Amino acid sequence: MGQVFDAILHRRSIRKYKNQEVPQDKIKKVLEAANWAPSNGNSQPWRFIVTKGEYVDKVCNVFYNWAKDYIPNAPYIPEEKVPGMLKYAENFGGAPVHIIVTHEIFEDEIKTQEALMAASAAIQNLCLAAWEEGLGTVWIGGYVLHAEDTREILQLNENQEIVGIIPIGYPDENPVAPERIDLVQKVKWLGF
Ligand SMILES: Cc1cc2nc3c(=O)[nH]c(=O)nc-3n(C[C@H](O)[C@H](O)[C@H](O)COP(=O)(O)O)c2cc1C
Repeated sequence: MGQVFDAILHRRSIRKYKNQEVPQDKIKKVLEAANWAPSNGNSQPWRFIVTKGEYVDKVCNVFYNWAKDYIPNAPYIPEEKVPGMLKYAENFGGAPVHIIVTHEIFEDEIKTQEALMAASAAIQNLCLAAWEEGLGTVWIGGYVLHAEDTREILQLNENQEIVGIIPIGYPDENPVAPERIDLVQKVKWLGF
């Protein structure tokens, strides 16, 4: 199996991290991988914000303050899963560092969409490179990306939108791979 395919198959979303510092040179390496993602016209419309300490804590608090009311009341979350999810919501499993990936917003809606696509490709590169470095990641989406408090903590410009918050650190779990839907249901072959 090729190295890239191996990383693609074996990377998992990690939701429990060791209380262990991540060397800055490893962070720089995964950022380098992210920065080599493809982009429309090679515009490279992504930016990265790397946070630790109080910045990580503050963003986690934004999420937890929302999640503590949302999780117990969400009809699709089984009751037995609520305590574990609330624990995770406290600090995304305790990753010491977050990498926040943003894309630029343009007047042209298509350009903005393509900036989002490119930044998403950067995140995937980042997560795969982190796996190769022995680091775990999880792509956090949803409410916390758009909360005004998050934007303030991260000192975002008006023309920046968050694509993902990526906690990164040494994994303290080895999750089973969530199943994938068979390709038979996903692929239409035309002209073969
Ligand atoms: C756009 C996007 C948003 C996601 N949001 C969250 C999230 O808010 N919280 C979380 O724990 N995982 C989140 N995930 C991770 C998915 O749950 C995970 O990728 C999926 O269950 C498959 O598991 P795997 O990554 O281990 O293969 C997100 C993934 C993507 C691509």
